[in-house]
Amino acid sequence: MSDDAKKPEGAENDAAVSRRQAFVTLGVGSICAACAGAAMFGYEFLAPNVLYEPSPVVNAGKPDGYPAGSVTQDQQSAVYIVHGPEGIYAMSAVCTHLGCLTAWKPELGIIACPCHGSKFTRAGVKIEGPAPHPLPWLRAWINEDGDLLIDRSEPLGQKQFVRT
Ligand code: FES
Repeated sequence: MSDDAKKPEGAENDAAVSRRQAFVTLGVGSICAACAGAAMFGYEFLAPNVLYEPSPVVNAGKPDGYPAGSVTQDQQSAVYIVHGPEGIYAMSAVCTHLGCLTAWKPELGIIACPCHGSKFTRAGVKIEGPAPHPLPWLRAWINEDGDLLIDRSEPLGQKQFVRT
């Protein structure tokens, strides 16, 4: 006597139904995975390809923090804030040779580049070295809250002072 003969009637149908359900579940799962993938690619295609950068405008705080005759380097934003006899001005601290960050040398009274030895005055004028241009001056102004703001987005073609 075979095993089939012992099975109750309908057992074969139950196995067929569960196999059918397994295939339906597999098919629905595959369709869902395909839809999720298509939605993900669709979102990436439609989402704006934007690079979020920090603002080029730096808040340097109250101008009182820069006493007359001082040269202050903001390492974070790569700018100098200089309080000269004509007022406060801002310069880029990035060397015009190959872009190294320069440093103020108070003992020498100059700005020096550690990479290839360019030297600049406190007004950014090149003294020596391979730098092809002076350090660029940056637009600076005082906002309605009395804070000194510096725009690093583009160099000024001329000198500009903030009078306090
Ligand atoms: S990067 Fe400053 S001198 Fe070369």
